[in-house]
Parts: sequence; C-alpha cells; structure tokens
Amino acid sequence: MAEELKKGLEGVVVADTRLSKVFGDIGKLIYVGYDIRDLAAHASFEEVVYLLWYGKLPTQPQLNQLQARLHAEAALHPSILQALKGYPTGAHPMAVLRTAVSQIGLNDPDAEDNSQDANYRKALSLTAKIPTIIAAWARIRAGKEPVAPRDDLGLAANFLWMLHGHEASQAEVNALNVYLVLLADHGMNASTFTSRVVTSTEGDMYSAVVAAIGSLKGPKHGGANEAAMRMFREVAEAPSVKEWFESEVKGKGRRIMGMGHRVYKAPDPRAAILKQHAQAICGTSEKCVLLGVAEELEALALADPYFVERSLYANVDYYSAIVLDAIGIETDMMTPMFAMSRIAGWSAHIIEQWNDNRLIRPRGNYVGPVDLAWVPLDERRDD
Ligand code: COA
Repeated sequence: MAEELKKGLEGVVVADTRLSKVFGDIGKLIYVGYDIRDLAAHASFEEVVYLLWYGKLPTQPQLNQLQARLHAEAALHPSILQALKGYPTGAHPMAVLRTAVSQIGLNDPDAEDNSQDANYRKALSLTAKIPTIIAAWARIRAGKEPVAPRDDLGLAANFLWMLHGHEASQAEVNALNVYLVLLADHGMNASTFTSRVVTSTEGDMYSAVVAAIGSLKGPKHGGANEAAMRMFREVAEAPSVKEWFESEVKGKGRRIMGMGHRVYKAPDPRAAILKQHAQAICGTSEKCVLLGVAEELEALALADPYFVERSLYANVDYYSAIVLDAIGIETDMMTPMFAMSRIAGWSAHIIEQWNDNRLIRPRGNYVGPVDLAWVPLDERRDD
C-alpha cells in the first residue's frame, strides 16, 4: 500500500522552534512572542537580530555591544574583494552571494568548528558581511570601486551608504530597516528548512547558509520579489492593467508573482506594512510609477472569484519590490536583499537545530518499477 504522501511537505511539522510562528488563518506573525507589527513600528533590525539569537530584546548596552561587533566584522578581507572583482559581471547577484559566502568560509579558521561559541561568531560575521558583499558587487559590476563600511551607522544606513556612496535620507533608511525587520524569520520556510537539513547532518554553518541562499533564489521563494518587479514593468507596458489581468492571468493562467502563500490563507501582515511604506516613500519620489500598477492589479485579484476562493493575497514580496525599487535597489539585487535580512533567521535556526539535533531524513514514495531482470550491455535495445 502506498505510504501517505504530503506533496511539498504541506502541513508537516519538522521541528520545535522558539523563533517565529506564522498564524496563517488569521494573518499574524510573531518573532519570539512579539507581534511583527510592533517590531516593524519600533525595532531596529539589530534589535531583531539580538531577539532571534538570544531569545529576548536587548538592553541598550547589549544593543550597543552587538552594533560594535557588527561594525568590527563588516569589512571584507582584501582577498574577497579581489575575488569579487574577478567574477563575471553578468552573473546573477544571488549566485555571486552564494559564491562569496562560501569563499568567506574558506578563510575562516572557525569554519569547521561547530561549537555554539563558534556558531555565534560566524552568525555575527555573516550578518555583518552580507550587506557589504551585496553593496560591493552592485558597484563592482557597474565598474565602480566598492565603498568601505562605516562604524557610525546602523546596518540599514550603512548598507545604503556602501551601495550609493552617499548617505541615504531618513525615509530611505526607515523603509529599509522595516523591510529587514519584516523578513528576518518566517517559520519553517524553504530556505530555513534547507539550512536546518544541512545542519542536521552536522554540516557546518557556511554549508548551511550557502544551501539556504540557493533555496531562497528560486521564484517560488525569495526570487518572487524580483519576479514581481519584472511583472509590474510588463503590466505597465500593457494597454491597461485590467487588460493585462484578463489576457495573462485569466486567459493564459499566469500566476501573479508576489501573491499566494503556502501558510497564509488570510492577508500576509507583512504585505500591509510594506504597502504603507511603499505609499509613504513613493509619495516623496518620482521613481515609483509602478506603485499604482501594483495597487490596481492587487485590487483586480482581490475582486476576482478565482483569487477569493483560493485565499490568494499579496505576500511579502509584492510590495517589497516597490519599496526596494524606491530606495534604489536594482531588480536583480532584490533577492540578495531578502538574504541580507533572512541571515538573522537562518543563523538562529542553525544554532537552534544544533541545540537539539537529529538527522532530518524523510522518505520517498517509490513509484518506479520493481523486480526487473538484469540485461547484459550488448543485449540492450533503445526502444
Ligand atoms: N497567482 C495565481 N494563482 C495562484 C497563485 C498566484 N500567485 N498562487 C497560487 N495560485 C493558485 C494555483 O494555481 C492553485 O490553483 P488550483 O488549486 O486551481 O491548482 C492554487 O492557487 C494553489 O497553488 P499551489 O501552487 O498549490 O500553492 P502552494 O502552496 O504550493 O504555493 C506559492 C505557494 C507561494 C509558491 C504560490 O502561491 C506561488 O507560486 N506564488 C507566486 C510566487 C510567490 O509569490 N512566491 C513567494 C512566496 S512568499
């Protein structure tokens, strides 16, 4: 008899976690007990990092210490910068990030040390360095020199400084900070699960994070922000948003990128917050011609029986794309921005997995042939 198959592991619980919970039926998300809406309104990304790593919000001295340690770790070793300069400029930024993180692991004397102390050190180093890699790559591929990190700016402001070579406005820093807070963790999503699977084999943190970056890259996961942005551009070229919706979605059955979710069957709380920030930042910028397109497309979907019956709402990637575009992030750099935030969650999950580890090893439901007779090579026919 066939064993029960949960396609896509839907509904399967794979681990206890104290880090975050998605309440999919009511559209709520908590990190270590705190509602994401409160964190988005009040917390810096660094406070969320501390919360996920240590299970409580930091005091001011604890936060200062974390920030000082992040500053101390943010610069890239000259050999990494040199390597980045040798990568093909046409490579996808997620492939660049995956390779650079792996390369940082080669130079880390702690790479194979899986003790908790070493894992916290590596988590800190990766959280500090991923923004530097992304900003450096954006500049290097454009023929510009990388800009060194500063030790007087928070992580969001420092990233925009390194990316643009000038200080960002407070509105831009706030928008990026909220984005980073909102994407830091999300239950047992695909890339987090990937990181835990690698860790469960007693693989090292670099291997787990590199695998997670690979998992995040796909358009059904983190790649959806980039795909949504490309889609908004395509819609803007159409005679009208309604016409595009009728012909592409209703006519050809194309998916609206940045809509739908495996767990949320109610609106994703992160999308509403990002929509407000998109509206706020676009109110002061002429760059946001696509916000109107996104809003009109969302309204069409919300009124369509197909989307209503399947509880398909805008997810976090939908308005992320507009926010990131407004603060000057190139479209193919959007998924690395997701990784810049999710490294906090990945590393926290990796440490949590180490604390109570058992090999994650599911089974497959074999549906191939059985008991075939061996055929010698010279008697086989390709028919
Ligand atoms: N646009 C149109 N229809 C969609 C849709 C979308 N974005 N997302 C799901 N659907 C439909 C599917 O066609 C399917 O319809 P059916 O039951 O008639 O076959 C139904 O909704 C369920 O979709 P399914 O792919 O089985 O759901 P899932 O839980 O496996 O996938 C996602 C979840 C997120 C991968 C899926 O919603 C999707 O592809 N969204 C677009 C990509 C995206 O935004 N990803 C980021 C997630 S944070």
